[in-house]
Amino acid sequence: MNFDFDTVVDRCASDSRKWNAYPAGVLPLWVADMDFPAPPAVIAALHRRVEHGVFGYGMHPAGAIEAVVAHCAQRYGWKIEPEWIVWLPGLVTGLNVAAAAFGEDGDEVLCCTPVYPPFLAAPKHQRRRTVAVPLAQRGNRWEFDFAALEKAVTPRTRQFFLCHPHNPVGRTFTRAELEPLAAFCEKHNLIVTSDEIHCDLILDPVPHLPFASLSPALAARTVTLMAPSKTYNVPGLGCSFAIVSDPVLRKRFEPARGSIVPDVNVLGFAACEAAFREGEPWRQQLLAYLRGNRDYVQNFVARELPGVTTTHVEATYLSWLDVSALKLEDPAGFFLQHGVALSDGTPFGVPKGSFVRLNFGCPRATLVEALARLQRALAAR
Ligand SMILES: Cc1ncc(COP(=O)(O)O)c(C=O)c1O
Repeated sequence: MNFDFDTVVDRCASDSRKWNAYPAGVLPLWVADMDFPAPPAVIAALHRRVEHGVFGYGMHPAGAIEAVVAHCAQRYGWKIEPEWIVWLPGLVTGLNVAAAAFGEDGDEVLCCTPVYPPFLAAPKHQRRRTVAVPLAQRGNRWEFDFAALEKAVTPRTRQFFLCHPHNPVGRTFTRAELEPLAAFCEKHNLIVTSDEIHCDLILDPVPHLPFASLSPALAARTVTLMAPSKTYNVPGLGCSFAIVSDPVLRKRFEPARGSIVPDVNVLGFAACEAAFREGEPWRQQLLAYLRGNRDYVQNFVARELPGVTTTHVEATYLSWLDVSALKLEDPAGFFLQHGVALSDGTPFGVPKGSFVRLNFGCPRATLVEALARLQRALAAR
């Protein structure tokens, strides 16, 4: 079966945050959802659940648990047990729960910037201190800077927040990079929260290695956060989960949800099960389409956008554009005036005016028009 990623679905008349944040006519390539309908198998499962007609309080259905366990085994060769799964309505919630669960007020949480902004905010919301250590850009890719990480550790450092694959720099970290990171976390006795929400969106022929799967000792200090939301484009359905193998760690993580974190809604469970059980043919075609979009962006930036550079995106549908040479005070505001909404880099922990993030999870026609607008914007300066 061929799936259609080319048709432009009008989201303006819907509840889309992405499409309603800016005036009509602006092409929104900012917040990380895609403009594609979910896989038909997911939509069919949702129809079935809606037809049932009763929407009382839910709990994780056995089928969703089986689907997650099978997914981890088949996709990553990672054997997990059903009781390790802690359901969550979102990964940002998961970051906040992890920040609250471990350590004391004023303890420090390390993360590597640039990074998805809630990594920087969650520790602060939970009365911890965020310590941001810049990734090092080496040629065409961003890497951990172990010397800088070592320097950042203090007696109050308790946790490491890992983004793997990394939003916004699009890296899939290799075993050769993860092993020294694991050694670093073990040396300093850090609890690791590994946000792996983008792990099924790897565009290059490299495997995703769940951080916790590297060794049992590492698993014992790791909370893995995953979800079908990014890959199958169902983030509005709010279904995510943590995998915590260590019972002691889990006993600290679970109650930190308190009575603030709501249960996953029943439609989210239905979507999650269908996505993991039946979504693979759709995902394969999505990856091929995104690869085409990724290549289009990289080539276009190199040829047509003077003063803009980017690095190779191995995973995600996000490009991190270095616009520092343009010397614009507010690059996102500048491009918005020319009809394209990008994410400003500043909340990701980089200096004002240096980077913007572009979301290429959209039909090719939308992307082509948006990039042409960026080109015209630069030509008109
Ligand atoms: C790395 C990362 N974590 C978490 C999220 C958001 O997760 P959720 O919508 O489940 O809170 C995103 C969304 O862009 C993300 O890129």
